[in-house]
Amino acid sequence: MKRLLPLLLLLAVAPLNAADHSHEHADAPAMEHRKPITLSAEEKAHIHLEMRLFLAGTQKIVTGIAANDMKLVTAAASSLGMAAAHEVPAGLRARLPLEFKKLGQATHQGFDDLARDADSLADANHALRQLGQVMSNCVSCHAMYRLEARAGGK
Ligand code: HEC
Repeated sequence: MKRLLPLLLLLAVAPLNAADHSHEHADAPAMEHRKPITLSAEEKAHIHLEMRLFLAGTQKIVTGIAANDMKLVTAAASSLGMAAAHEVPAGLRARLPLEFKKLGQATHQGFDDLARDADSLADANHALRQLGQVMSNCVSCHAMYRLEARAGGK
C-alpha cells in the first residue's frame, strides 16, 4: 500500500505535465532526449509515409490474429517486408544514421519472418509473439530519433 501512493500521485500529475509541455515542442524541452536527424521536407514526408504504412499494416496483422485469419496476417506482414523497403532515395539513405538503418532493416526482416511463419504454421499465438518482437524495433527507434526539416524546405 505504501508503494502505491507515489505511483498514484504520479498518475494524477502526469496529464498536467503533458499539457504544460505540449506547446514547447519547438524549443527542445528538457523532456526531449531523441537525436535529431535533419532532412529535407520531402525526405521527412517520405519517412512519415512509410511509418503510416507500418501502422496500417500492423493494424491489419492484429485484426487478422484476433480473427484467426492467417491469410490476412500473411498478406499484411509480407507487405511490410524487405520487398517493401522500396527505393529509399540514395541521398536520404546517406543521411540516415547506421543504427537507424539497422533498426529499419530488422523491422522489415521481422515482418518477413512473421509472414513466412503465418503462412507455414498458421499459429495465431506465434504470430502475436513475433509481432511483439518486431514492435520492439518501433519502440526503440522512436525513443532514439526524431526528424527535423532543414530550414528552407529542400
Ligand atoms: C528505424 C527507425 C524507426 C522504426 C523501426 C519505426 N519508426 Fe516510426 N517513426 C520513426 C521516426 C524518426 C518518426 C518521425 C518522428 C518525428 O517526426 O520526429 C516516426 C514516426 C512514426 C509515425 C508517425 C507518422 C506521421 O505521419 O506523423 C507512426 C504512425 C509510426 N512511426 C509508426 C511506426 C510503427 C508502427 C513502427 C513499427 C512497425 C515504426 N514506426 C517503426 C522511426 C522509426
